[in-house]
Amino acid sequence: MDYLNYQFVDSEDFVKTYDEVPLWSSSFGLLMLKHLELKANETILDIGSGTGFPLVELAERLGNSCKLFGLDPWKNANMRVHEKIKNYGISNITLIESSAEQLPFEDQSLDLIVSNLGINNFDKPDVVFRECNRVLKASGRLVITTNLHGHWKELYEIWYLTLHEIGNEAYLKLIENEEAHRRNLAGVSQLFTDNGFQITNVVEDSFTMKFLDGSAFLNHHFIQLGWLAGWISLFPKSELSMIFSKFEFNLNQFAARNGGLNLTVPMAFIAGEKF
Ligand SMILES: C[S@@+](CC[C@H](N)C(=O)[O-])C[C@H]1O[C@@H](n2cnc3c(N)ncnc32)[C@H](O)[C@@H]1O
Repeated sequence: MDYLNYQFVDSEDFVKTYDEVPLWSSSFGLLMLKHLELKANETILDIGSGTGFPLVELAERLGNSCKLFGLDPWKNANMRVHEKIKNYGISNITLIESSAEQLPFEDQSLDLIVSNLGINNFDKPDVVFRECNRVLKASGRLVITTNLHGHWKELYEIWYLTLHEIGNEAYLKLIENEEAHRRNLAGVSQLFTDNGFQITNVVEDSFTMKFLDGSAFLNHHFIQLGWLAGWISLFPKSELSMIFSKFEFNLNQFAARNGGLNLTVPMAFIAGEKF
């Protein structure tokens, strides 16, 4: 159970080997690239542009009549994007190392803001949605993709089974709260309508992430980075080994019965227009 010692170490070295297009983000990005209406001569911002996806792909698909900005506070990821811009010979992207809670743009200066797995998951989504409204021109567009409540429902069932077996209601509540923080479609849509946007298009889809078993899942580096560290932080250190050995055992039992650990990810593309 080495995975219980996992700690994310942000570094230039780590970012160098981080996927060109993170596989996790790619399904959401493809949904965005399929449904986003492409228009000439726009000024566009990608919020939470990470290591450059979908920012770089969008910049190339749109061409030089459009001017794009990528904004993310993650320094090492921005360095990776600078390298891509240089190596691919791209001239229509400017990077900004900053948080979206205060966008460094004039009022009504942008045509389109996109965010792939971004703004609705930030610490203060309402603040960021209001900032988007401020910097967009009249009828400017805000387009996001996100996973939804119901994400990995199979896995959460196994969490609940495990914590019932352990018989600790407080731990059960912690995982329930962690699952509940993820909004459903109505909740994400409300972030738009509460902050000055009308919804113009919604596309729902889903995909399945397949793992051989729970052990492979818990030892996967991206699962550790994205989710495991959060679960570990919920429980007392002294209980981790007991909780996770039962959880891993139950995941493996489930996988043995079901031909693998197959986890459903519901997702949505949501486009809004400023009113
Ligand atoms: C799940 S990642 C998605 C990255 C990229 N869009 C992709 O699809 O691979 C979320 C990104 O949002 C960035 N982020 C977190 N809080 C932010 C904030 N307040 N303002 C801007 N970006 C933020 C993170 O640094 C991270 O790069």
